[in-house]
Amino acid sequence: MTTQSRPNILKAIGIEKAFYTPEKVHILRGINLEVNRGDTVAITGRSGQGKSTLLQVLGTLETPCEGTLEIAQKTVRSTTKSIIRNKHIAFIFQSFHLLEDYTALENVLMPARIARQDVSVGAPAYKRGIELLEQVGLSDRLYFHTKVLSGGEKQRVAIARALCNDPDLILADEPSGNLDKLTSKAIHELLMNFVKKGDKSLIVVTHDPELAGMCTTEYNLSDGLLHQMR
Ligand SMILES: Nc1ncnc2c1ncn2[C@@H]1O[C@H](COP(=O)(O)OP(=O)(O)OP(=O)(O)O)[C@@H](O)[C@H]1O
Ligand SMILES: [Mg+2]
Repeated sequence: MTTQSRPNILKAIGIEKAFYTPEKVHILRGINLEVNRGDTVAITGRSGQGKSTLLQVLGTLETPCEGTLEIAQKTVRSTTKSIIRNKHIAFIFQSFHLLEDYTALENVLMPARIARQDVSVGAPAYKRGIELLEQVGLSDRLYFHTKVLSGGEKQRVAIARALCNDPDLILADEPSGNLDKLTSKAIHELLMNFVKKGDKSLIVVTHDPELAGMCTTEYNLSDGLLHQMR
């Protein structure tokens, strides 16, 4: 396919990231990555190599020390990053980041509420929230506060929340890390179908060979660099 028919959704050039604690810990040492619409990218790598840090930088939540990042062909700057993020990106975090005193449905509807959509009972966003929670197998937990849910249930709420606003790019950090094999398989299929149906893109950090194998491209992150595996 031509570049014109499959424009890139993300382009990272020479991304570096270090933390000062106070001594310098250099985590990312020159990341180059291009992701086109429709691409599914798996990132593997040993614990502590910087996979979560990389997702945070690619999702504009962390600022790189060096390099440039383009999302939907726009250069990310400090003044525009939250607009770009809200418009194009959804996260499935390693530690869920749910609002624990809100129900599963309220959490799923939060991105729609932030985007000022009507989330009242019966509105399209409300119906979509319920449908997504059904798709992740939580139709009997819609009105439970997320603090009482199990780890795997929280993870599934986070996945439904990520899909709620129809993002162009999903950044997922171990999305099936807390799930049994059968539930993982259902979640993987849900994510892949979402990407395929809408010409969306996915970057997923995973230790699961089955999920990595479903992706179009696989990289290993080590010594601060991405190494293409296939
Ligand atoms: N805000 C921070 N300040 C200082 N060091 C940090 C910070 N965030 C991450 N680090 C360090 O950066 C390194 C990479 O962390 P990161 O969470 O990105 O690893 P990871 O590859 O996702 O690991 P895991 O597979 O265990 O989730 C770790 O050594 C971590 O301690
Ligand atoms: Mg991590």
